[in-house]
Amino acid sequence: MARATVLSLKEKKRNGQKISMLTAYDFPTARMMDEVGIDMILVGDSLGNVVLGYETTLFVTMDDMVHHTKAVTRAAKNTMVVADMPFLSFHISVEESLRNAGRLMQEAGAHAVKIEGGRERVAVVRALTESGIPVMGHIGLTPQTVHQLGGFRVQGKDVESARRLIDDAKALEEAGAFAVVLECVPAPLAKKVTQEVGIPTIGIGAGPDCDGQVLVNHDMIGLFGGHVAKFVRQYAQVGEIMKEAFKAYKEDVEKGTFPAEEHCYTIKEDVLDKLY
Ligand code: KIV
Repeated sequence: MARATVLSLKEKKRNGQKISMLTAYDFPTARMMDEVGIDMILVGDSLGNVVLGYETTLFVTMDDMVHHTKAVTRAAKNTMVVADMPFLSFHISVEESLRNAGRLMQEAGAHAVKIEGGRERVAVVRALTESGIPVMGHIGLTPQTVHQLGGFRVQGKDVESARRLIDDAKALEEAGAFAVVLECVPAPLAKKVTQEVGIPTIGIGAGPDCDGQVLVNHDMIGLFGGHVAKFVRQYAQVGEIMKEAFKAYKEDVEKGTFPAEEHCYTIKEDVLDKLY
């Protein structure tokens, strides 16, 4: 399968074909997603929560993102890789934003970057796209501003904030974004945004009418444990399978049943005889 591009993704929207996206942060996971033909892999800054154990994504750095994006792009032979720009990497100046996005493309091999925020990010989105860096927007619940939003809550529930969401999506499209993530948005509002813009909308907790869907891998395969949001469908309980394996291994080691004969290397007996 050919790697998705900003053009093929728009074409999918026009043809009513849905777009699949999942997060990955390491080589083997990205390789599996590549093998099954997921359209886009997001190296999300959710890395901070599900891999690095932070409470929020605010602690994730550019170096973290470059490191994990490198692992993913080494595996993604046919999949478009979008790397998240972490907190403070695109806030200080347009120049610094360009340098940081450039690192994700040039050092880490990403094919696009993702930026949280709406109209307030237009200057950065325009500068990046004019420099040849495809940008995915991200509006609705933007986890990097969780403290300002007052928690992880559904966005766009009243007229004013719903209108703001539509205006943000349009502003991002106008600035050159090739797609926009809608996170934790009422399904009818996400449908309206999807109808109002020409770029693909990628929903997470935004209902079935977005042009595509994204989920955090660790949530959808049951690897993270703990609370799982209402909008997640769990396709597996990989964490339980791993725990069973760890438990069985511990028992085998303690009983002395691992390693067994088939796990051992041998040498000719006379080698040992000559030692003593
Ligand atoms: O960081 C991330 O994984 C994300 C998705 C939730 C869209 O931004």
